[in-house]
Amino acid sequence: MRILVLNGPNLNLLGRREPDVYGDVSLKGLAAELMLRAPEDVELTFKQSNHEGDLIDALHDAFDYEGVILNAGAYTHTSIAIRDAISAIAAPVVEVHISNVHARETFRHESKLAAVCIGVITGFGLTSYTLAMHALIEHWRNRHD
Ligand code: DQA
Repeated sequence: MRILVLNGPNLNLLGRREPDVYGDVSLKGLAAELMLRAPEDVELTFKQSNHEGDLIDALHDAFDYEGVILNAGAYTHTSIAIRDAISAIAAPVVEVHISNVHARETFRHESKLAAVCIGVITGFGLTSYTLAMHALIEHWRNRHD
């Protein structure tokens, strides 16, 4: 089972960026944690970009993956182009956020992406990604068992 873990703008600064909001673990640290927790038959690919078009290309490259874990950062709240890319691909996508976006500024309460994702996980810190991985595994099993 192939899962793409796709992180958007400013998430390259994880661990250094607003640690009171996003914690002190780096993006590399997050990848290591997730790999430790992944079952043997799950192959994780990690990508990060600060650019909207690169994120769209990465989604296209994962067209027929079994799942995508997407933290689109602030593009979550603005990007119809990323929403269209999620709709275009066959892979199921889970939207994740480290912080609880609903407990923050009102502009973070709206997601342009959520409606075309299979679900949203927000507010559990880096555990949001682990929960999303397990959600995708369950989703895949339910369709294939
Ligand atoms: C975020 C929440 C977004 O509102 C913000 O723009 C981010 C990170 C999160 O993981 O909590 O860059 O997606």
